[in-house]
Amino acid sequence: MTAPRLDVFPAADWPERVAAELADRLRERPTARLCLPTGDTPAPVYAALADAAARGAVDLARATVVLLDEYLGLEPSDPARCDARLRRELLDRLPAAPAFHAIAVDDGDPVAAAAAHDAVAAAGLDLTLLGLGANGHVGFNEPGSGPDAATRVVALAETSRELAHVRYGAARTPTGGITLGIARLLASAEIWLLVTGAGKAAVLARTLEGPEGDDCPASFLRRHSRLRVLADEAAATALSGAR
Ligand code: GLP
Repeated sequence: MTAPRLDVFPAADWPERVAAELADRLRERPTARLCLPTGDTPAPVYAALADAAARGAVDLARATVVLLDEYLGLEPSDPARCDARLRRELLDRLPAAPAFHAIAVDDGDPVAAAAAHDAVAAAGLDLTLLGLGANGHVGFNEPGSGPDAATRVVALAETSRELAHVRYGAARTPTGGITLGIARLLASAEIWLLVTGAGKAAVLARTLEGPEGDDCPASFLRRHSRLRVLADEAAATALSGAR
């Protein structure tokens, strides 16, 4: 197993540094197929990327964006919906928006929606960005998810249901979710795990330095030869360097 590349940036310019790396990738490959997460971690990166696009420093017009995960049981207009959030924080702020594949959770058949979204991702992902759940989840691959986990309908951990409501402002508690599975994420050509804040320090150390295990699904990302971790200084404080 190759040790993941770890980049630690000061919190003050972490969003701009990550956005600049992303802009470089998009310049190298303007037609990149990106899998993107939502959450408080990537939000400032998207703001910086949208600013860069407004300055003409990057162009996503020919890129394709595949949504990582989505809630079940929230209205399409709910501000906490992952598709709504990605549109609001990034896509709608771009001078020319990329093709966007949301997850068809409003069609009444979540199993079919998961299968259809898996097929979109299976067409190829050049780069997958991920946040890290405080419980070690990636996407909605909650604890108990193994490396072979497929794209599927999932029950959410209680903390994830609460977070949707309390922190992300969902009008009600979601009933479940659909997520790209860990196996599909591992098939991406490259993965960047984004981690910020002291509150994520312990779970980042667990992810990178603990034993691989389904109590921390993010630990399986270490199987990927092109895993890169982009952390701020606070999130990196519990790392011992013994990787
Ligand atoms: C959420 C999402 C994940 C996200 C993670 C961390 O529940 N399903 O895709 O990356 O939890 O969120 P945050 O960045 O807000 O800490």
